[in-house]
Amino acid sequence: MAELIIALDLAADDARRLLDRIPEARWVKVGSILFTREGPPLVRELAARGLQVFLDLKWHDIPHTVAGAVESAADLGVAMATVHCLGGSDMMREAARASAGRVGVVGVTVLTSHSATDYGATLGRGGEVVLLDEVARLAGAARATGLRGIVCSPLEVATVRGTLGPAAWVVVPGIRRSGDPAGDQVRTATPEAAARAGASHLVVGRPILQAGDPRSVFREMAAAAGG
Ligand code: C5P
Repeated sequence: MAELIIALDLAADDARRLLDRIPEARWVKVGSILFTREGPPLVRELAARGLQVFLDLKWHDIPHTVAGAVESAADLGVAMATVHCLGGSDMMREAARASAGRVGVVGVTVLTSHSATDYGATLGRGGEVVLLDEVARLAGAARATGLRGIVCSPLEVATVRGTLGPAAWVVVPGIRRSGDPAGDQVRTATPEAAARAGASHLVVGRPILQAGDPRSVFREMAAAAGG
């Protein structure tokens, strides 16, 4: 069974209206755009509604700074937050330590916007890297530092679940029902397939945000994910 996380890629008032229409919602994702505009008060408001907040700011900084950000997120009542695995093992270890079991810190492996070629070029490796191997390598590094889990695309879930074992959080965006427009997502999966492959949390934006009846799409996807 996987939890559905609604990605609040909306203005704050639209997000409030959407949540009023989906009383079953348990998790929401607040990303950089909404957080930079609305800040901690909106996160507190969402937590006060009884929602689990996934604060997706993808920290990648020196270990001391990331640890401070994780502590701040925990104090804010956030349930999940992200760091980049490429911040390195010392940074991930400090993030895990700073979480003190109060907030689940998950590591972003390879951004889904990367191709194998530009990822290889970014790392100065030349040629193409095998993204699946890279995701598995970073997931293993995240596990070794004590992070709560990782973020990966639907294509990598099954491999990563094998690397991380049953207890880790495996958070997966790019979720579409068959027939839903993919939008700019290249690597997609249905909620059934992603949950079956081992995802613990599914991040869903546009299929719910743009639906005429968002509650019925949420319920359908949650049921498909086993929730
Ligand atoms: O609208 P859609 O369902 O594609 O939204 C997916 C959400 O997950 C967006 O908030 C997007 O920024 C986020 N995300 C993603 N791919 C990643 C990490 C986060 O699509 N690798």
